[in-house]
Amino acid sequence: MSQDNLQKEADSFGDFYRAQSSSPTIQQIFRVANGLETLSEEITPYSFVTLSDLEKICHWLNLTPGQSFVDLACGNGSLGLWLAGQTGARLTGLDPSSTAIAMAQAKARRLGLATNARFVAGSFADTTLPNESFDAASSTDAIWLAADQQAALGEIARILRRGARFVFTSCSTLDNALLKPDPSSGCEERIVFDDPFVL
Ligand SMILES: C[S@@+](CC[C@H](N)C(=O)[O-])C[C@H]1O[C@@H](n2cnc3c(N)ncnc32)[C@H](O)[C@@H]1O
Repeated sequence: MSQDNLQKEADSFGDFYRAQSSSPTIQQIFRVANGLETLSEEITPYSFVTLSDLEKICHWLNLTPGQSFVDLACGNGSLGLWLAGQTGARLTGLDPSSTAIAMAQAKARRLGLATNARFVAGSFADTTLPNESFDAASSTDAIWLAADQQAALGEIARILRRGARFVFTSCSTLDNALLKPDPSSGCEERIVFDDPFVL
């Protein structure tokens, strides 16, 4: 994806995050539909991850306090911050939207997690993060947006330590070769893998 197209995509997600942050209705739609009402009101994702998905992701990440993980395409930081709070691990959230990054930083402060969480600009194609620097990676409902998913997985492998886990959910369409769940369906589907990827 060209830098221009990535910027346009990031800007349109930024528009959504601004609208969501000023609309309790939009926030509630995602919280109620995904069964997240028992979590802090700061947890306002833009994805279809349910509470039980989130608990599985947390379990599969297998993180212990003090370890580090990266949440790729973190959006406004909601789910990565919840995972950081549950595990005590240090979070790096990455997203191409500067609006999302600013919101995630503010959320971290309100949740009292600012010392354990940082947010940086980047994309699946170019995270700008150092080699072998994380104990795990997560990504929710976003890797389908990577123009080249093989390259994205290569980049994720580069920044993870040996034996680290990458746990993700995604959506897929028929022209989406790598994560295609059912070629006969012809419609968009959501995938939740049964096991983490272990590198
Ligand atoms: C559907 S939202 C999911 C956000 C977050 N993971 C969540 O669960 O709330 C998709 C996110 O992917 C980000 N995104 C779009 N294109 C991307 C790319 N090429 N690389 C990384 N992130 C991207 C968007 O800025 C947006 O925040």
